[in-house]
Amino acid sequence: MGFLSGFEKIVRQGEPLAMHTWFQLGGPAEYFAEPRHAEELVLLVKRCRDEQVPIRMLGRGSNVLVCDEGVPGMVIRLSAPAFCEIAVDGRTVSAGAGASLGHVVTTAVHEGLAGLEVLVAIPGTVGGALRGNAGTHGGDVGRWTAEAAAITHTGDVVQRSRDDLVFTYRQSSLDDLVILGAKFELEEDDPKELAKRLQKQWIVRKASQPMGHQCAGCIFKNPRGTSAGELIEAAGLKGTRIGGAVVSDRHANFILAEPECTSNDVLRLIDVVRNQVEDRLGVALELELEIWSPSREIPAKGP
Ligand code: EPU
Repeated sequence: MGFLSGFEKIVRQGEPLAMHTWFQLGGPAEYFAEPRHAEELVLLVKRCRDEQVPIRMLGRGSNVLVCDEGVPGMVIRLSAPAFCEIAVDGRTVSAGAGASLGHVVTTAVHEGLAGLEVLVAIPGTVGGALRGNAGTHGGDVGRWTAEAAAITHTGDVVQRSRDDLVFTYRQSSLDDLVILGAKFELEEDDPKELAKRLQKQWIVRKASQPMGHQCAGCIFKNPRGTSAGELIEAAGLKGTRIGGAVVSDRHANFILAEPECTSNDVLRLIDVVRNQVEDRLGVALELELEIWSPSREIPAKGP
């Protein structure tokens, strides 16, 4: 670890990533770091850049499948308290990228600030939510994002204002290497009413999605004007199994990992689902789940 001298306290080698992801599958990271504050993070980013070590940012791992072989390079998690702060000032909620999105949502509701409550039950961190513009049918996180702080690939800290940011369905223009945090500009509302709405949406979500199981979020993006879950069900694929990976009976856009499941089982099941939906319904599904693999690209059309 010579090239990482000075970072011994925050970098581990061969860290198993399974325990850091919702799927609880996959191999180790070559290097895994949990920096204590932004200055240390910037130094680490610069060192990795100088040494040409690739960096991947990991939030709570709710939208990531790590392949069984693990990943090369540095995986960074913003778990330290300095990255997880949430503060409220008037109608503005500021949150570090490592903060849990759910915690930000409940804080806003508690303060009588409306907008983010539609995101209830979305797992993961603020950073992950911003990167993929997490959302529901009620709206997405980008709609309320007033500004964001980030670290560029060259290690510079930058502020991205609303005018610089473009959010579309499950996509954001925030493609800097690291997202540090964001400010959300919300609307005043009655906290009791908001709490009621939150509860109602929580119940709906719980009834329609396999929460509490070993799985990630939705596997595929919704094609324009339709739902991937509905298509997968229409293709007759609910309950389809490969090894320990099963298409959820509750919501077909979720894959459950049963005991003994491997990442490879999930990858093979993803290929089967994608191929069958394309063959039977003529729709090419696009992945929402991030696959972390050193070499394997999921083919657009499998064997
Ligand atoms: N449906 C089926 N079969 C299924 C699943 C859904 O017929 O197995 C039907 C439902 O009956 C409904 C329609 O499809 O008529 C839409 O279903 P749902 O309300 O569950 O929403 P979704 O479009 O499948 C999206 C997001 C979810 C988000 C929900 C709730 C995507 C890919 N998914 O799902 O987000 O929680 O809306 O608003 O955009 C995620 O992105 O990871 C995710 C879980």
